[in-house]
Amino acid sequence: MGKQPLKKGEKVLFMMFGLFLLVVMIGYAALETIRIRSDKPIFVQRTHFDFSPEGKKGSELYRTAQCNTCHRAVRSGTSMGLSLDGIGSKRTLEWIQSFLIHPEDIYGAPTIDHGTRPKEAAYVADLPKENLRLISIFLSELRADPGSSVAKAPPPGRSPFIDTMIGNFAPDNWKEKYQDIREKMPSDPAQQDAHE
Ligand code: HEC
Repeated sequence: MGKQPLKKGEKVLFMMFGLFLLVVMIGYAALETIRIRSDKPIFVQRTHFDFSPEGKKGSELYRTAQCNTCHRAVRSGTSMGLSLDGIGSKRTLEWIQSFLIHPEDIYGAPTIDHGTRPKEAAYVADLPKENLRLISIFLSELRADPGSSVAKAPPPGRSPFIDTMIGNFAPDNWKEKYQDIREKMPSDPAQQDAHE
């Protein structure tokens, strides 16, 4: 069987694919070069933790209770449920503990997995109270920087980006209906955590 010459359309297609591959490779090489040479990390870590002895025990119980089949925390687990990284900056310890025991009451809305049987995470509410207390302490120690996507608090200081978004997109009646959360934040960012 003789070799068939490529049709014009095929040549164009191959060229486009080759060009695409080239751009991807150059982009990757450039990004890696910058990442390795830079002394500042380019992907900033916005969640952090510093566990107390009780929080450490809680993290072990969290693992044996298989919460990570649905949740992500401390950068491992799955994303079937919510990510719990940073939850300690959004919810109080009391909130977390009450949620684990009475999820539907605390949400005030139908839940998917936590709650009564046959929901899949119904077993969570039946864990020994002491385990739930320690797991809650562990979760409350998962913090996020103000302004990160998992934090309740906005970034410290004025943000021109947020001001523009509010100016352009917030309907006028929102200004009467809601209070700008930034006006009641303490000016010291260290105190911005978990105000409910
Ligand atoms: C079968 C999947 C699944 C398992 C297992 C599971 N969760 Fe959840 N979790 C969810 C889903 C989904 C939500 C959202 C609420 C709902 O609809 O149930 C949630 C919500 C939460 C919340 C509230 C988060 C928020 O900010 O609103 C906490 C806290 C939580 N889970 C902790 C745990 C802990 C601790 C365990 C293990 C003891 C666990 N979960 C096991 C699926 C699961």
